[in-house]
Amino acid sequence: MDQKIKALREQMEQRLNLVDSREKLSAFWQDFLGKKGSIAELMKGLGAVAKEERPAVGKLINEFKTFAEQRYQERSEKIDELELQERNRREQVDITLPSSRRQQGTMHPISIVRNEMINVFANMGFEVFEGPEIEDDDHNFTRLNVPKDHPARDMQDTFYISEDILLRTHTSPGQIRVMDHEKPPIKVLVPGRVFRSDSDATHSPMFHQMEGLVVDKGITLCDLQGMLDQFVRRMFDAEVRTRLRPSYFPFTEPSVEVDVSCFECGGKGCGLCKHTGWIEVLGGGVVHPNVLKNCGIDPDVYSGIAFGIGIERITMLKYGINNMGLLFENDLRFLKQFKD
Ligand code: DAH
Repeated sequence: MDQKIKALREQMEQRLNLVDSREKLSAFWQDFLGKKGSIAELMKGLGAVAKEERPAVGKLINEFKTFAEQRYQERSEKIDELELQERNRREQVDITLPSSRRQQGTMHPISIVRNEMINVFANMGFEVFEGPEIEDDDHNFTRLNVPKDHPARDMQDTFYISEDILLRTHTSPGQIRVMDHEKPPIKVLVPGRVFRSDSDATHSPMFHQMEGLVVDKGITLCDLQGMLDQFVRRMFDAEVRTRLRPSYFPFTEPSVEVDVSCFECGGKGCGLCKHTGWIEVLGGGVVHPNVLKNCGIDPDVYSGIAFGIGIERITMLKYGINNMGLLFENDLRFLKQFKD
């Protein structure tokens, strides 16, 4: 038996030297230490050993078993170590390599200007409301004092979806939606997309507007001019002045077109202002009493002012862009020039 154990021990050492993976280690366990392994076989052979010798031989086998388990444990730790080394080698990072560049996006110029405009008006106490882009005829025209067959409807070439449903042609229907749900004092901005069947260097079938509405007791045209003065100075330059020209919109009376003194030439006349010294930036006026009435607000008690600003126009003026198409072509070479 002694000889047998000795031979098995040698065999085991040889096998162990070849064990360099988890799979081989587990095969080793099965062959030597498993239920049907060599050591279990030795135990079975104990029956054939003479009775007096049995305790001594049994002890020998047990010692060998403990020894084999120890060697197994050592090898297992060694394999852990080898695997870790291998993993470290595989996952090694060369921190001196140049990093791959991550493309960083930029805000679209229209968004930059819209946010800037909202900021300026928010500082004057305006809140923001957003209305739907698909509107009904009632909100877009009729309740804004533009009844069916009114010639003023021709001012806005409309995309109709059905007889009564359309893509809003301006952000003004937002006024109605706000006044339907809020009582004065009201001070809101309605930014958003608007749509008209119109397309050339200065017109796009989809563009952006920013509507403003203030309703309270004693609001006059002077309030409009005061607010817009503030607005253009903050958006363009502290020296810029505004000028109101009479105009016509069915939803305001009186109606005005607002010009700013040319910030390129200071009013002397240049290419940007077409040699007039002034640049038109928006339309506005005193809210027509019919519009207030249509929203259940008594025009004998309250009055309001409203304005609509084209965001593309402000963006083009601010950055000196001469073709509106550039804003919608999504050419990264153009868009990357704008940083928030
Ligand atoms: N909705 C007008 C347009 O798109 C702009 C406008 C004019 C808005 C006068 C107003 C306003 O609120 O009072 O042409």
